[in-house]
Amino acid sequence: MEKMNVQPATGKLGVLCVGLGAVATTFMTGVLMVRKGLAKPVGSMTQYDKIRVGRGAEKKYLHYHEIVPMAELKDIVFGAWDVYPANAYESAINCEVLKEKDINPVKDELEKIVPMKAAFDRDYAKRLEGDNVKDCATRWDMVEALRKDIRDFKEANGCSRIVVLWAASTEIYVPVCEEVHGTLAALEQAMKEDDRRHVAPSMCYAYAALAEGAPFIMGAPNTTVDIPAMWEMAEKTRMPIAGKDFKTGQTLVKSGFAPIIGTRCLGLSGWFSTNILGNRDGLVLDEPANFHTKEVSKLSTLESILVPENQPDLYTDYYHKVRINYYPPRNDNKEGWDNIDIFGWMGYPMQIKINFLCRDSILAAPLCLDLVLLSDLAARAGRYGIQRFLSFFLKSPMHDYTQDEVPVNHLFQQYVMLKNAIREMGGYEADEEID
Ligand SMILES: NC(=O)c1ccc[n+]([C@@H]2O[C@H](COP(=O)([O-])OP(=O)(O)OC[C@H]3O[C@@H](n4cnc5c(N)ncnc54)[C@H](O)[C@@H]3O)[C@@H](O)[C@H]2O)c1
Repeated sequence: MEKMNVQPATGKLGVLCVGLGAVATTFMTGVLMVRKGLAKPVGSMTQYDKIRVGRGAEKKYLHYHEIVPMAELKDIVFGAWDVYPANAYESAINCEVLKEKDINPVKDELEKIVPMKAAFDRDYAKRLEGDNVKDCATRWDMVEALRKDIRDFKEANGCSRIVVLWAASTEIYVPVCEEVHGTLAALEQAMKEDDRRHVAPSMCYAYAALAEGAPFIMGAPNTTVDIPAMWEMAEKTRMPIAGKDFKTGQTLVKSGFAPIIGTRCLGLSGWFSTNILGNRDGLVLDEPANFHTKEVSKLSTLESILVPENQPDLYTDYYHKVRINYYPPRNDNKEGWDNIDIFGWMGYPMQIKINFLCRDSILAAPLCLDLVLLSDLAARAGRYGIQRFLSFFLKSPMHDYTQDEVPVNHLFQQYVMLKNAIREMGGYEADEEID
């Protein structure tokens, strides 16, 4: 197979995080600590995973960077926007995810990451009170101001490339409105007319990133890049987009566990998932309009793995419920419970209980790193638009619903897509099929 023309990863890679909260600061601190040899990037596919390339006598297992040119951690420069003015060191301490002993060795570097003023609208996250916010007359002004931030950051830090990662709070649910979100021209018009109901601040970040030649990744469940207008923008600027919602705790388990039920042709009558968490994310999600965005994203996982139309005897009318409860004492240490009601031979019922005592940001940080590095790779490989191979990292993978495309939620099918994309970009055959 002919090798794809992947540009080398030369120069610095600017990683601009929207939001400088628990996830972003855990990600940044970890990368800086790893760079100093003081921590290990556990959970990161780009740093640990090996992919088989070639067959038979030619067979080899290689790290991603041995197959394709990946940016190195030493070349990353971090920046951020946030509603609150705390720098990355202060924020990391406040979030209480990491112990001070794991933050202090990179204190100097973290203190230099001072958030730029946020493009923010309180109607989109009522529980946030910060005042480190841009004063913009219209959504279009927000875009212009963000574009300037990106250009200034790139120049000031001598970056050759930028990736923008949304690690900010979940906004209220913005349903897709064909009239505004259907085409790029309509979206731009709405931004200029300051249509605040249909244009979320996150859309301004995404638009600004793409306009400045930077891939955009949506780590929250916001529908920001799930609209045809943004796909058009990504095609026009030939930039990759990925989303949405980091697949970290409960949904990771769900997308890995549901295939056990499906593969053994067991039946499902119900799946009840509940969580408690007490960080700022939990606080924002305590607001019903913000929770709804998360709920839609979390509920979509099972539907494409256990499909009633394919197996009516096994999966018709199963009851699927997801709850998140704000419970401050647990902070970032989320606890998730899954109760799964299955049935077997002759319809006899059984139950499975899963209790995951996880750490939200510890699970999210390696995903941030992988999504950033792989989006940068995709851009250098000339891949643009929706990056389906990144579905592995995301709870509610992007798909073209206007063409009735069904997203792939099955963790192991997603892993095949990831491996095949790396193989293809490295000039090897994509040799595992999803059937
Ligand atoms: N940690 C996980 O396991 C996980 C999994 C999936 C998705 N997520 C999502 O990742 C996001 C970040 O989570 P977190 O735990 O770091 O939350 P957090 O509340 O600690 O941090 C989010 C930060 O974003 C800032 N912010 C909000 N709106 C902004 C805007 N318009 N511009 C700039 N900054 C803005 C807030 O001030 C806050 O500091 C959330 O949307 C969460 O739902 C997290």
